[in-house]
Amino acid sequence: MTTLGVNIDHIANVRQARKTVEPDPVQFAFLAELGGADSITVHLREDRRHIQDRDVFLLKETIKTKLNLEMAATEEMLEISKKLRPDYVTIVPEKREEVTTEGGLDVRNNMKYLKNFVEKLKESNIEVSAFIDPLVRQINYSKEIGFNFIELHTGKYAELTGYDQHKELQRIIESTHEANGLGLVVNAGHGLNYNNVKKIASINNMNELNIGHSIVARALAVGLEKSVREMKSLITSN
Ligand code: PXP
Repeated sequence: MTTLGVNIDHIANVRQARKTVEPDPVQFAFLAELGGADSITVHLREDRRHIQDRDVFLLKETIKTKLNLEMAATEEMLEISKKLRPDYVTIVPEKREEVTTEGGLDVRNNMKYLKNFVEKLKESNIEVSAFIDPLVRQINYSKEIGFNFIELHTGKYAELTGYDQHKELQRIIESTHEANGLGLVVNAGHGLNYNNVKKIASINNMNELNIGHSIVARALAVGLEKSVREMKSLITSN
């Protein structure tokens, strides 16, 4: 059954708007777990615009589910993740000027560097995922590099409508099938919400969906525990 990873970066966004101590993403991770989150995802960005180092270390100590650390493939992040030992790391591309992660990782043009990087994480018993666009060549290279998982970028699917969205959904379905055939575990995420999630959740062998913005936005109206519970129910009621 497909599981739900809740991305709590936006809780930290509100805190950092005032650079104060509230709201604390660590406390809200507890509520996400109460609502049925199967894992907690945080992106520790180079510019520390939302999640801080203190958050990831406290989360590691306090959460009862799994910690998925999203990060860029930099030496600084490698050192942090070796100390932190999250359950898994998702490697994402990172640009300072972007509002959120825009495209998937270009695994093809960074093969040698990424191979070495992934090996070092695996030596610390951390499983590693690549956030990639649903393209066969990116999947094949991800396998060759040694990633355990891939996370398929659903941003385009979320933006499109009608027949174009249907075509993008087919691309995600085929990519999932292709990656499973290579022995890769498949997650997906970005832009998923209460209206568009079901078609992605019902893909055969879809392992986990990572969702942040829509859940935190809904939490303002109904509270985080309830917004997570509602999303979890949509994902698991196929
Ligand atoms: N997966 C990855 C790799 C991401 O970078 C993000 C955004 O931080 C998400 C999933 C969640 O996307 P959204 O906030 O649009 O649900």
